[in-house]
Amino acid sequence: MNILEIQAGDSLLECVCNVIHAAHEAEYRRSGLKINTSSITSEVLERQLDEHHGICVAAVEDHNIVGTLSMMDECSDHWYLKGLEAGIIKYVAVVPETQQKGVASALLGHAKGRFSSGHPRGVLTVSTDERNKSALHLYRKNGFIPIDVTRGRKAQSCAVRLAYWPQGNPHSHVRIRLWLMRRRALCAVKSIIGY
Ligand SMILES: CC(C)(COP(=O)(O)OP(=O)(O)OC[C@H]1O[C@@H](n2cnc3c(N)ncnc32)[C@H](O)[C@@H]1OP(=O)(O)O)[C@@H](O)C(=O)NCCC(=O)NCCS
Repeated sequence: MNILEIQAGDSLLECVCNVIHAAHEAEYRRSGLKINTSSITSEVLERQLDEHHGICVAAVEDHNIVGTLSMMDECSDHWYLKGLEAGIIKYVAVVPETQQKGVASALLGHAKGRFSSGHPRGVLTVSTDERNKSALHLYRKNGFIPIDVTRGRKAQSCAVRLAYWPQGNPHSHVRIRLWLMRRRALCAVKSIIGY
């Protein structure tokens, strides 16, 4: 398996989008978790990569893209990102036939290495639906720790944000725990009142 970096403008972004759609459809069939990826087209991905200085990383096997993720700059004023150069990982997906073979871990390893060399004092984050157990397990296994929980207006469930610091977590575990407890309580209240 080779790891390839794809920039905005590359025609391979079309194949990348096909991998994202196939992986999420398979997840829906397997676990019932529906994450709508129809809005992720090569044009949308290209625009995001362009606007946020991003790169797309692909795993290639036998001349086929079997897995992908995208990494871009992030601007946010969350306390746990403030003052740090922040990057965000999006669209992590591996084709169903190649899952459970370490492809996503290899992609995350590449992204972490790339980010760490450019932003050693930065923070790299990734978000996932709290019901997506395979993704949560994958991120934790690869050194990301849960740092926030949010519930969007009318969202069916919460999104968990996880963070990776190349030089280690600069925040106290107690502060993160208390923050997560508060945020989980807020999510619970929002779900009760149907917000
Ligand atoms: C999540 C996903 C990217 C993982 O890709 P992958 O190449 O299979 O991941 P890896 O092989 O590197 O690692 C998988 C790990 O997750 C575990 N895992 C896989 N499915 C799991 C599940 N349903 N529940 C719990 N753990 C699971 C594996 O056991 C393995 O951990 P281990 O090495 O400790 O055994 C892939 O399942 C996928 O494309 N899912 C659909 C799209 C998606 O949900 N993307 C994330 C959006 S945020």
